[in-house]
Amino acid sequence: MFTYLEEDGILFTCDFFGAHLAEGMFDDEVEDILIHAQRYWAEIMMPFRFSALKALEKISNLDVRIIAPSHGSIYRNPKKILSKYFEWAQGITKEKVTIIYTSMWGYTEKVVKLIESELIKQGIYTVVYNLAYADIGDIAKDLADSKALIIAIPTVIGFTIHQQC
Ligand SMILES: Cc1cc2nc3c(=O)[nH]c(=O)nc-3n(C[C@H](O)[C@H](O)[C@H](O)COP(=O)(O)O)c2cc1C
Repeated sequence: MFTYLEEDGILFTCDFFGAHLAEGMFDDEVEDILIHAQRYWAEIMMPFRFSALKALEKISNLDVRIIAPSHGSIYRNPKKILSKYFEWAQGITKEKVTIIYTSMWGYTEKVVKLIESELIKQGIYTVVYNLAYADIGDIAKDLADSKALIIAIPTVIGFTIHQQC
């Protein structure tokens, strides 16, 4: 649920447009604000992207000059985050692949490195996460705009390797 203060063009959006961030009162005071916003989108909003799209369409005719979410910085340049949210809510992806893997003896890791270097050779932006150390929130963030996900796991007690969802 949003509240719109027409006189000042301020949109109060609670979680929407939020970020898990406790630095920088305003968006232009935080260098990588969109990275924080993408992670928050992926962790909290992505499962509800169709409702998010409806909400974005509902506010599309409002004169929004400031966006004040309950978490993270206040956007006094709302255009950037509005267009990013439209992109994420529509499921628009980049020429980007996210690879997540685990490896006991390093053989699966060797295969992953090979796949990674081949993808990079083809100009595809590739991010790789070793699940033994990875931050799940970072993985979610990269899944928000990835065209493909590759999962590589070793065979353990009859489980087989799945490579692409
Ligand atoms: C506990 C354990 C169970 C395994 N079970 C299987 C299996 O059921 N089938 C198989 O083909 N390989 C099995 N393997 C062999 C591993 O899949 C193989 O060593 C693989 O290269 C491990 O990948 P990694 O080097 O990335 O850890 C098993 C290995 C371990 C240590």
